[in-house]
Amino acid sequence: MKIIVTGGAGFIGSHLVDAYIKAGHKVSVIDNLDTGKKIFVNPKAKFYKISVTDLKKMDVIFKKERPDLVVHLAAFDYITRSVKEPENAVKVNVLGTLNVLKLMVKYGSKKIIFASTGGPLYGFSPKPLPLKEDRPIESVSPYGASKAFAEETIRLYYRLYGIKYTVFRYPNVYGPRQYPKGVGKAVAIFSKLILRNKRPTIFGDGSKFRDYAYIDDVVRAHLLAIKKGDNETINIGWGKPTSDLELLNAVKKALGSNIVPIFGKRQPGEVDGFYLDVTKAKKLLGWKAKITMKQGMKKTAEYYKLCKKLKKKFIR
Ligand SMILES: NC(=O)c1ccc[n+]([C@@H]2O[C@H](COP(=O)([O-])OP(=O)(O)OC[C@H]3O[C@@H](n4cnc5c(N)ncnc54)[C@H](O)[C@@H]3O)[C@@H](O)[C@H]2O)c1
Repeated sequence: MKIIVTGGAGFIGSHLVDAYIKAGHKVSVIDNLDTGKKIFVNPKAKFYKISVTDLKKMDVIFKKERPDLVVHLAAFDYITRSVKEPENAVKVNVLGTLNVLKLMVKYGSKKIIFASTGGPLYGFSPKPLPLKEDRPIESVSPYGASKAFAEETIRLYYRLYGIKYTVFRYPNVYGPRQYPKGVGKAVAIFSKLILRNKRPTIFGDGSKFRDYAYIDDVVRAHLLAIKKGDNETINIGWGKPTSDLELLNAVKKALGSNIVPIFGKRQPGEVDGFYLDVTKAKKLLGWKAKITMKQGMKKTAEYYKLCKKLKKKFIR
């Protein structure tokens, strides 16, 4: 199958590209390298350094590649920054998604798999937990609102043009290659700081909680979605809460550190806590997270230790 992965030089996207290539698919990557890294891109994938906001350049690529499937991850992925720069969230996440959809119609693509979010869609203190997919949207940041609008545009294109979709609402995903900046990247940020012997900051008192998943489990969901989960919006995650303090302790344990954190002010756009109902993923995809926090932290710690040993910011 011919697949275009937008954002395929990023943390999640580059792992997806590796897995799709391993499964025998022909993969092209579209990424403007905003946060992505060229070294993450699998050498067997074609790479196009362009922005999803540039319809003209995107058209050339879609015309050439004519993908059956588009896995759309390119995004303005900064929750806190989006509060100050809402127009950038709209430009990349809404208009970028619209560009992808228009070209899918024009060049006969069949399906889109979209990276949405489970956290910032349901209010600052959503209840009852766990959150189901059919809960009404109540975005708490321009980032969340832009993802919700992109989701709805994807559903619209199914109704209007029959482009099939699977929308994944991710928890906080962690693992090797994660860019250590921004909200929801705590494992990467904590790991980098601890390895430099710098004290990490917890925003708030450490009791905020989130749902998590290790990258390999997220990749497995995306492989299943090639054939399953058509026209569905599906949560993935552990389906349980992990507090910021619990998370930090797990990172510390994996790195063998007893560093004491700094407690800072809460950031704008951050929710108090969420975890996701993942029964639909099990029912429709036969998917359940397999990697425990301990196993995932161990693999992630090994990655960041190796980066440090090789004196490289990132390695593949
Ligand atoms: N990591 C998480 O915990 C998480 C949680 C919820 C949703 N998501 C979503 O998953 C997707 C991937 O996230 P990630 O964690 O891999 O982040 P990432 O920053 O590593 O990846 C995003 C990629 O998109 C690229 N990109 C950004 N703007 C672009 C543009 N205009 N044109 C082309 N490429 C562009 C970046 O260069 C980067 O390679 C994003 O859509 C994000 O919103 C991630």
